[in-house]
Amino acid sequence: MRILTGITPSGTLHIGNYFGAMRPAIELQTRGEAFYFIADYHSLTALTDAEARRRYTHGIALDWLACGLDPARAVFWRQSDIPEVCELMWILGTLTPMGLLERAHSYKDKTAKGISPNFGLFAYPVLMAADILLYDTNLVPVGRDQKQHVEMTRDMAIKFNQTYGETLVVPEHEIRENVALVPGLDGQKMSKSYGNTIEIFGEEKTLRKKIMGLVMDSRTPAEPKPDADKNLAIQLLRLFAPAEAALDFENRLRAGGLGYGDLKKALFEHYWNYFATARARRSELAADPGYVEGVLRDGALRARAAAASVLTRTRKACGLA
Ligand code: ADP
Ligand code: TRP
Repeated sequence: MRILTGITPSGTLHIGNYFGAMRPAIELQTRGEAFYFIADYHSLTALTDAEARRRYTHGIALDWLACGLDPARAVFWRQSDIPEVCELMWILGTLTPMGLLERAHSYKDKTAKGISPNFGLFAYPVLMAADILLYDTNLVPVGRDQKQHVEMTRDMAIKFNQTYGETLVVPEHEIRENVALVPGLDGQKMSKSYGNTIEIFGEEKTLRKKIMGLVMDSRTPAEPKPDADKNLAIQLLRLFAPAEAALDFENRLRAGGLGYGDLKKALFEHYWNYFATARARRSELAADPGYVEGVLRDGALRARAAAASVLTRTRKACGLA
């Protein structure tokens, strides 16, 4: 089974990215052939600062490796090191109805927010389909917001196969329902573009301040809180603390007697300890930029070998070779 996922280097990674995409992907690397990449071509639709793109790309490579991506098991590369993906995007684009792309939620959300659309933003799902199909992918672990993109990928693969004969593998998505949507500091979906993130790695003081700044209601500590399970700090605590410990805090909050300040302090401690090992590993890796570059270069060689066979097959099927 081949498992593939990508993360766009358009900012610093947060715990929504971690629980929604990275941790499932890292767990899956023992269940099949893992293909994980940094989607720097996609980041062109969101970011026009070249230096920032390089910095985010390097940072995300460090994040993945620190969080447990094992380059001996997983193929790990930078998307733009395999420009063949753009050729497959073109081929798929010629079979993709405009109407399908016009219905893409992420495109509609972005234009609704006032981002003026260009061809790249419109074609984003076609490039993502090419990412997936170029490697004969079976399974795509992603957060819920990417589900539609994987469905569109399936449509494109099926359309190609109907038009030119069985050629492309039709993938499935994998979404962990319990962490499908990690809430941000404001209770909305945590996202790099909403300014409501808790970073995976960051400065202790800044992150403590963010977590202690979580907005709660004005009920006194003594008051019982029957809605304790919906409390934002409790929801976040469930991600980091053992289940019994999180439940204990929830029960204490429900009964009354636990102040929000103490709850947030506990949340910060659990969050900070949760990533302690990864944080130490990340600073070791950061001290050796040559290592990270070497991993990505080696990954690109392996990814290219897989891509070449699919692209040759696809070109033959549609009469380009
Ligand atoms: P962002 O919204 O912060 O820009 P991306 O779109 O780059 O995040 O998402 C990278 C991966 O992380 C995707 O698989 C996405 O589904 C997942 N992801 C992002 N935000 C969340 C969240 N709040 N909860 C769960 N998964 C998320
Ligand atoms: N669009 C994805 C995101 O914003 C990133 C991505 C690009 C991706 N290509 C992919 C994810 C292929 C899975 C498979 O999160």
